[in-house]
Amino acid sequence: MVNKNITSIDDLSVKDINLISNQAIKFKNSKKIQFVKNPKNIFNLFLEPSTRTTVSFELAAKKLGYNSININFEKSSLSKGETFTDTMNTLISMKPDALIIRDKTNFSPQNISKHLNIPVINAGDGTNEHPTQALLDFCVIKSIYKNKKISIGLCGDIKHSRVAHSNIKLFTKLGYKLHLIAPSYFIDKNEVNKINPNIIYHKNLKKINDLDVLMMLRVQKERIPKNGKNMMNSFKKDYCLLSEHLSSKPYLMHPGPVNRNIEISDNVLDNYPKSLILTQVEMGVYLRMACLKYLLK
Ligand code: NCD
Repeated sequence: MVNKNITSIDDLSVKDINLISNQAIKFKNSKKIQFVKNPKNIFNLFLEPSTRTTVSFELAAKKLGYNSININFEKSSLSKGETFTDTMNTLISMKPDALIIRDKTNFSPQNISKHLNIPVINAGDGTNEHPTQALLDFCVIKSIYKNKKISIGLCGDIKHSRVAHSNIKLFTKLGYKLHLIAPSYFIDKNEVNKINPNIIYHKNLKKINDLDVLMMLRVQKERIPKNGKNMMNSFKKDYCLLSEHLSSKPYLMHPGPVNRNIEISDNVLDNYPKSLILTQVEMGVYLRMACLKYLLK
C-alpha cells in the first residue's frame, strides 16, 4: 500500500481536508481523548527555527499517546558538518513510524517522501508550503463560519511566505473568494495566477473592512535579498495594520511569529477584539492530532 503524506495541500482532496478539519474540531471539543492502542514513534526534524509548530506537533503526538522524538539543527550532527543525506539515513535506520520535517530548502519534504515508506508531514519548506498551518487556519475559520464561503484577504509578504502559498491552494480548492493585498515587491502574480486566476489584488489597505477575515503575514526577513531593509521600511509605512485602518468587521489572523509594528501595530495586536491569533495557536495542536490520526490509522 502506498502511504499517505501531507507534504503539500496538493496531497489532499477536498474530502481529506474535510475529514481532517472535522476531526480537529472534534478533538478541540472533546473532554477526554483516548490514547492510541499501538503507540508509534514520530520523529520531528526541525532544521529552521520554530516555536508553535514544534511544540504543537510534540504535544499533539503526546496527547494521542505516541512517542515524539525531537531533533533540531543545533542538537543534530548536521551542525557538526554531517550531510543531510547521512543524517536522514541515520534517522531512518532507527525506523520511525512517521517523519515531520521543516527545512529551508523548497520541496525537501516531498523529495524525502519519495524514498520512504512512512508518512511524511511538511512542517514548512523554504518559501514553498506549510500545509498544516493552512489546515489549522481553515479549522479556525470553519469553527466560526461553518461551510459558508466567506471572503478572505491575505496581506503582506506573499512572495516569500509558505503559509500564503498553502493557504491560497487550500482556499482555492475549497472555492473561497480570495483577496491578496501586497506591494509589487512582495507578490509574484504569475505564480499566484497559476494556482488561481480569479484572485483579486489590492495595493493598499483601503478595502480590508469589506473582508470577513484578514490574514496578515510575517515579512520573511531571512528570505529577502540584500535590499530587504528598504522593503521592510516601505512595507511598514504603507501596510502596517493600525487601529485606524480597522472597523470592527474583519477577524484578524496571523500565523506568528509577528514582527510587531512591521505587519501589525502594538495597539492592534494587543487590543483588537476580533483577533484570532492565539486561537490559531490553540487549534494548531488539535489540527496536528487530526493529521497524525489521518496518516497513522
Ligand atoms: C510560519 C512559518 O514558519 O512558516 N510560522 C509558523 O509555523 N507558525 C510563519 C512565519 O514564519 O512567518
